[in-house]
Amino acid sequence: MKTVSAANQIAHPIPATKVKVAVLGASGYSGSELLRILHNHAFVDVVAAYSSERSAAQRWREIAPAAAGDSELIIQPWTDHALADLANCDAVFLALPHEASAAIAPKLIALGSKVFDLSGAYRFRDAEQFATTYGFEHPHPELLNHAQYALMELVGLEPSGTLFAIPGCYPTAATLALQPACESALLEPASVPVITAISGVSGAGRGANPRTSFCEVSVQPYGVLNHRHTPEISNNLARSVVFTPILGPYPRGIIATCVAQLNAGVTAEEVHAVYQRSYQGQPFVRIVAEPPAVAHVAGTPYCHIYIAVEGQNLVVISAIDNLLKGAASQAVQAANVVFAFPVHSGFAPFIQECGE
Ligand SMILES: NC(=O)c1ccc[n+]([C@@H]2O[C@H](COP(=O)([O-])OP(=O)(O)OC[C@H]3O[C@@H](n4cnc5c(N)ncnc54)[C@H](OP(=O)(O)O)[C@@H]3O)[C@@H](O)[C@H]2O)c1
Repeated sequence: MKTVSAANQIAHPIPATKVKVAVLGASGYSGSELLRILHNHAFVDVVAAYSSERSAAQRWREIAPAAAGDSELIIQPWTDHALADLANCDAVFLALPHEASAAIAPKLIALGSKVFDLSGAYRFRDAEQFATTYGFEHPHPELLNHAQYALMELVGLEPSGTLFAIPGCYPTAATLALQPACESALLEPASVPVITAISGVSGAGRGANPRTSFCEVSVQPYGVLNHRHTPEISNNLARSVVFTPILGPYPRGIIATCVAQLNAGVTAEEVHAVYQRSYQGQPFVRIVAEPPAVAHVAGTPYCHIYIAVEGQNLVVISAIDNLLKGAASQAVQAANVVFAFPVHSGFAPFIQECGE
């Protein structure tokens, strides 16, 4: 994976008509964040939003009052009959369990829609790696090669494509932290980066779960040496990694502490110069001078990156909001490129220095 310049991603012709979009999984955490951004998007009309078939129709503002404001949007239960209602949609965002996304995406593509999938269903090219990682055979392996992996600062998207796989939250934090060092061959060839990342409980989704309930949530590592984001991070960095996620007792945000060994003789100045160059002009990545806190990024589409070097030891600490840069805002970043909208479209409530 190569870093791309922001200039490659920003296209400026403003569309004459608004793009029609729908959100599936809109009653969930990342779906609700998608609705919030798309609702504020000048070039988008949200024409439909769905929960699972299990839920009754509900007002968005009743389940997410802070995000929805006085919106009258109704979130409808999804059934395959609803597919016909999406025939005129230009884009559909999927904030669904992996199995549901894997099954629904091709039906939407057949209708002529572009699909932005927040699940892990289309992040791998290799069906065997997918099955081993996600624990089920992919129902549409033929689509894996067509999906574009949309880690927006690091890949250029082909706008004529139809299926865009939004990276996982931990892989976004870890890859943004380590990719410049890997790509520029700053790391010792044998170095296996060690990534330890803590996430707020919204990372587990909205469904009731004793492990993430208020009274029981603690600080606890999980998925040690077998978390499903490990192969995604390794694919991105083209090297093995040791990844340990930790569940933290707070709502949202990830801090990823990444440790690796530099080649002998690489200086701190060289490392800083590589990172500055990699993220120059990228409106949603900031190199910061102090280790970041969750509070610096929670509720924002930004990634903060802090770099420290001592001898051959490189420590890079990244911070993102798992529901935004790790999911919904990255999906809208991708849509903005695909539909040639200005890079900050939809992000007005967050914008401080997008340079537009
Ligand atoms: N949470 C994060 O930090 C995060 C970050 C990056 C990526 N992701 C990925 O994004 C996706 C959504 O995650 P989330 O945390 O937002 O989940 P969530 O809060 O549990 O929400 C899941 C949504 O999907 C709906 N749904 C469940 N099964 C369905 C089905 N078979 N057909 C149609 N709709 C169905 C649910 O509807 P009901 O309300 O009716 O159950 C709900 O709206 C997952 O694939 C996850 O891995 C999440």
